[in-house]
Amino acid sequence: MAAERAYDVVLFGATGFTGGLTAEYLARHAPPGLSWAIAGRNPNKLAAVRDRLAAIDPALAGMPLLTADATDPASLRAVATAARVVASTVGPYVHHGEPLVAACAAAGTDYLDITGEPEFVDLMYLRHHAEAVRTGTRIVHSCGFDSIPHDLGVWFTIKQLPADVPITVDGYVRAGGRISAGTYHSALTAFSRADETSRAARERRAVEPRPADRRVRAVPGKLARARDLPVWAVPLPTIDPQVVRRSAAARPEYGPDFRYRHFAAVKRLPTVLVAGAALGALMGLVKLPPTRRWLLGRLASGQGPSAEQRAKSWFRVRFVGNGGGRRVVTEVAGGDPGYDETAKMLAESTLCLALDDLPPTSGQVTPVTAMGDALLRRLTTAGLTFRVLDEGRAPS
Ligand SMILES: NC(=O)c1ccc[n+]([C@@H]2O[C@H](COP(=O)([O-])OP(=O)(O)OC[C@H]3O[C@@H](n4cnc5c(N)ncnc54)[C@H](OP(=O)(O)O)[C@@H]3O)[C@@H](O)[C@H]2O)c1
Repeated sequence: MAAERAYDVVLFGATGFTGGLTAEYLARHAPPGLSWAIAGRNPNKLAAVRDRLAAIDPALAGMPLLTADATDPASLRAVATAARVVASTVGPYVHHGEPLVAACAAAGTDYLDITGEPEFVDLMYLRHHAEAVRTGTRIVHSCGFDSIPHDLGVWFTIKQLPADVPITVDGYVRAGGRISAGTYHSALTAFSRADETSRAARERRAVEPRPADRRVRAVPGKLARARDLPVWAVPLPTIDPQVVRRSAAARPEYGPDFRYRHFAAVKRLPTVLVAGAALGALMGLVKLPPTRRWLLGRLASGQGPSAEQRAKSWFRVRFVGNGGGRRVVTEVAGGDPGYDETAKMLAESTLCLALDDLPPTSGQVTPVTAMGDALLRRLTTAGLTFRVLDEGRAPS
């Protein structure tokens, strides 16, 4: 059915900061012959994005523009039925995301996004996973810095260890860079919805099947000096460990007993204490409607770090894996995590779903479950580093 569609790919949210960078990445790197279009709620802004794309590739001057609004389900159904794959950068997803997921699940159109909002992902599982399985649709959330380096990085790490043995992996994230208005709004929204987030997670746990014959865990670590690296390991309760655990639950390669812990790697303890206090204060302030409104008004949608600022940004994630008497240290690294690299990760994931020969999956699936090695190859070719730093016998 999906083969008959007008477009291979539609990018929804191309008028935003990250959506614009993703559109530019596709303009530079999509293979000739890919039929793609951009979608958004404002035709004038879409036309301005198309002008930018045509400056990169003049053939895009006639690219179709699809007008669709997250508040208008019929417009999203029109997008979903016109494309084989739809990628969305329209967030906060808990406010704007569901109608497009629903439209894609019903139409059999593969869907990707860059959400880091656990509540949204759990709600989409509860409400649309079964329909997506029925229609053979792949719903792949978190295809940006949340959570591709961590999900694919752990996949890369376990492949360096013996098969069919219990495995533990610890991930240590370091990054430098600034955030966009969209990230700021989505983070504040998530902080203000802690109760709703816990409720959605509980409801999902109650119904989601677990592997019958294997144990798979993502456990919160403790604040401590890292055993393996010269840093403080600060437990990082982002969506990433949840994504890693779901990949491990879906794929037997993670072995009979898999455990993951996710940390920020911080060099100095005072940095941890100051950041923890600031985050605690922010989480308190966003719970109160007047301070939440004030905080949300600080940055206008569409803003983000300049090209110069992004050029100085970076990320490195180290993984320490142990299994079958072996120990391996790996690293995933790249440039500006939030925007340049997120645009690359989302665009390459989109091309991967649209064009590559992938194992058959359907429903809500993680990047590793849906794309695994094919995406690893694409991102390596596109300049992200996945490498083994050290390997040997595990310390006794
Ligand atoms: N996973 C990651 O690592 C990562 C990295 C970067 C961003 N993100 C997430 O990506 C999202 C976007 O971030 P951003 O910085 O690009 O934000 P942004 O610049 O504010 O862009 C938001 C986009 O959403 C569109 N939009 C808003 N309401 C809409 C509606 N009702 N119908 C249709 N479109 C609507 C906006 O359209 P207009 O232009 O018409 O206003 C704009 O295109 C955020 O949720 C952010 O957290 C995740």
